Amino acid sequence: MTREYKIAVVPGDGIGHEIVPAGVTVLKAVAKRCGFALSFQEFPYGAGYYRETGSFMPGDALDTLGQFDAIYFGAVGLPEVDDTLPAKLFTFALRKHFDQYVNYRPARLLPGIESPLRRKTAQDIDFVVIRENTEGEFVQVGGFVQPEQPSGFAMDTSIFTRTGIERIAHYAFQLAQRRRGKVTNITKSNTLIHSLAYWDSIIKEVSRAYPDITYSKMYVDNASANFVLHPEYFDVILTTNFIGDILSDLGGAIMGSLGLGASGNINPERKFPSMFEPIHGSAPDIAGQNIANPVGAIWSGALMLEHLGEQDATDLIVKAIEATTQSGLFTRDLGGTAGTREIADSIVSKIDNS
Ligand code: NAI
Ligand code: MG
Repeated sequence: MTREYKIAVVPGDGIGHEIVPAGVTVLKAVAKRCGFALSFQEFPYGAGYYRETGSFMPGDALDTLGQFDAIYFGAVGLPEVDDTLPAKLFTFALRKHFDQYVNYRPARLLPGIESPLRRKTAQDIDFVVIRENTEGEFVQVGGFVQPEQPSGFAMDTSIFTRTGIERIAHYAFQLAQRRRGKVTNITKSNTLIHSLAYWDSIIKEVSRAYPDITYSKMYVDNASANFVLHPEYFDVILTTNFIGDILSDLGGAIMGSLGLGASGNINPERKFPSMFEPIHGSAPDIAGQNIANPVGAIWSGALMLEHLGEQDATDLIVKAIEATTQSGLFTRDLGGTAGTREIADSIVSKIDNS
């Protein structure tokens, strides 16, 4: 029997409508090459949908998406829609509902691309940011009190639970066992002396179960400097929701472009579908021009197949991406003139001919 996977496709907004179709073309090609079946169903959710209907997705959308094996997502957000809404009403809602507590974000210098970090090579830039994805600073618990008054104030509360910290820590240490055996906890417990001191102490506890792993802790201010000066220091980075959000964009930047970064929002227990998306947003400034870099979205598709157990297909996509960057075919963000579709076509042809 042919292996078959049901994929929910949510392009979202802006360049989502260009990079996600590019990714789907690649997924179709690799499925054909590797002998499994993918069925795609597309959903129009996002800020555009909100503009028309008043909500980012229909009331039964989470039940609908829950029937799929995985979700392949672009990005949400439009300049004309209140930008506090997309995360709250869409992205965080999915990550939370489907308990996608791991945000997996690899950063690697691809062949043929010169890092903005002079003298750093592919050997120096190869790490994964494991970002806690369902709690921490992004729980959106807080409020405003008399905001118009001189005495007005606003607050956001962070929530760190023992269960939440333990499970993300175990994931990071086990990932390090399959990589170069090093976990760096990036924290700011010298100033967030309750929540992040608790975070550190539980990670330290978990580290004792992994004597084979080299564990260390680094403050995020110093870590930001080290991303630029010594990226070779890092293998698996374990960090909080907010810190990971920022550092993974920095990871994308040292790879050469935000358009290259891939990610998975993963429920490791597979109780719910996981969701795969590029790290960047909907880039309204370049939408509709066929100039967006689709590599982050295509690589996210590879991460999706890896999660579904199709390792050969994953490797084929990654090799085809590498062959394409090696050949010097780049979109504008990397100094080239190729269009979104041209990059996807090149990756497809490398898969077809492999
Ligand atoms: P952004 O990541 O969309 O864009 C930042 C810069 O990088 C822009 O100059 C853009 O043109 C460029 N860029 C991004 N992706 C690119 C690609 N694939 N190829 C070439 N260049 C690319 O971030 P920004 O501008 O802060 O946010 C735009 C919208 O996206 C906002 O509404 C924001 O809330 C939303 N957003 C959504 C996310 C999600 O759905 N997960 C994540 C981040 C932002
Ligand atoms: Mg981000």
